[in-house]
Amino acid sequence: MLNDKLIDVAREVRERAYAPYSGFKVGAAIMAEDGTIYSGCNIENASYSHSICAERVALFKAVGVGARIFQAIAIVTELDNPASPCGACRQVLAEFSPDMQVLMANTRGKVITSTVKELLPMAFSNSDLREDKF
Ligand code: THU
Repeated sequence: MLNDKLIDVAREVRERAYAPYSGFKVGAAIMAEDGTIYSGCNIENASYSHSICAERVALFKAVGVGARIFQAIAIVTELDNPASPCGACRQVLAEFSPDMQVLMANTRGKVITSTVKELLPMAFSNSDLREDKF
């Protein structure tokens, strides 16, 4: 099943997380409209605020090679209760595909499913930038 594949890729890339400061490893895998999967892990920095989440690494890699629309993203941590994306990542994911599925999983196979729209209701978006939108 496609969801299982996406979670597997996220689980694998989690091993490459660079998280020496938090020790909290995250893996993400995002599936574009055409089925291509792009993966990302969190990458931390000694200047802490320059760290970046796994979700944005995966998304930015995808956008950087031309993908714009996404079916689903899987996020894997080792927490008993799978982690959900942070607010910044929700906003960035919503920019491209508010309807994308979000599969929050742990390394032992527990999965919680939602969508970006459900996780970020009333998101600020492109249309909010224009006075004449109505
Ligand atoms: N992190 C992610 O990569 N994704 C999330 O959804 C939550 C947090 C990372 C950021 C930081 O490197 C570490 O986890 C601890 O916050």
